[in-house]
Amino acid sequence: MYTQSMDTDPETRNPVAKVSAVGRPEEQRFQATVDAEGKIEPRDWMPEAYRKTLLRQISQHAHSEIIGMFPEGNWISRAPSLKRKAILIAKVQDEAGHGLYLYSAAETLGQSRDEMMAALHSGRAKYSSIFNYPTLTWADVGMIGWLVDGAAIMNQIPLCRCSYGPYARAMIRVCKEESFHQRQGFDIMLSLSKGTADQKAMAQESLDRWWWPVLAMFGPPDADSVHSGQSAQWKIKRVSNDELRQKFIDATVPQAELLGLRIPDEKLKWNTQTGHYDFGPIDWDDFWRVVNGEGPCNKERLAARVKAYEEGQWVRDAAMAYAVKRKARQHKEAA
Ligand code: 3HC
Repeated sequence: MYTQSMDTDPETRNPVAKVSAVGRPEEQRFQATVDAEGKIEPRDWMPEAYRKTLLRQISQHAHSEIIGMFPEGNWISRAPSLKRKAILIAKVQDEAGHGLYLYSAAETLGQSRDEMMAALHSGRAKYSSIFNYPTLTWADVGMIGWLVDGAAIMNQIPLCRCSYGPYARAMIRVCKEESFHQRQGFDIMLSLSKGTADQKAMAQESLDRWWWPVLAMFGPPDADSVHSGQSAQWKIKRVSNDELRQKFIDATVPQAELLGLRIPDEKLKWNTQTGHYDFGPIDWDDFWRVVNGEGPCNKERLAARVKAYEEGQWVRDAAMAYAVKRKARQHKEAA
């Protein structure tokens, strides 16, 4: 479904504006469709900047899904039971699937998978800051499910209503699977919190390391978010970075209380006037260091990704050879 526009002539696919078209009838029609909650589809007219914004966001999102397989994949061989191992394998496979839906959605905007991969492997493309932190203990696997996937769902539910059809549809399925991921993470945390003193201490130590990077995952404060204004007008982004962060904190604090865990923020306090939790300052310098390649695992993640791609070349070659063979057989049978 998502790749059908790739079959068309590259000159005519994605009939986007080549020049600024403010006020032109096609731009007015485009914005009217967006304003009326309609969907923009791959063959519809769209402003060039809209196409580029979507390509940037969807490809970054796809890269996050597949880089996100590494921190958890690291624990498949060390999961504490057969049941936990089976669940973790299924979850990591789901993340690969999310990457595939998202690369397919991005391809409908006119960029090939190879181009997106090249951008990731050369370090030109971004992926989520959160996957540059290490998974040092089993509790970190629970923390990724509970907090990282919990934050991902908070961000991605509004994306199900994004104005670009293929992205919105991909997100519906992704969110259903993320909800299972979040629950399996919470289930791990619940087991640890009912466990021995060492297991409880492991859970707390993990929360102490992950809490702040997870809050930063939602992106810079609204005042510093360069893309938010335009993306909101195009209904790509439906809820702002700060609003999502606040929603996440409000939802997560009671869960931490249930687990008997202490959130590592001295300033965290329920505010009866706002009806939200107040929280302490986020270290944005640290966030930008990680985004710009200097996080604890950036180099390791990228090297592992490039290695996996190179070692998988024979699989892609075999799949292509099989596709050519099958097409030739179909032609022969049809003749
Ligand atoms: N990590 C890395 N870069 C980030 C970031 C983060 N957590 N948050 C923001 N940035 C980057 C932006 O990409 C942008 O850089 P660019 O101009 O080079 O592209 C810059 O910081 C400014 O940020 P903005 O707020 O202006 O950018 P956006 O409007 O694009 O908002 C976003 C950022 C909220 C992450 C938005 O792009 C988005 O909603 N993306 C889709 C969801 C997504 O990618 N989630 C990543 C996690 S996926 C995941 O967790 C998988 C799960 O299965 C585990």
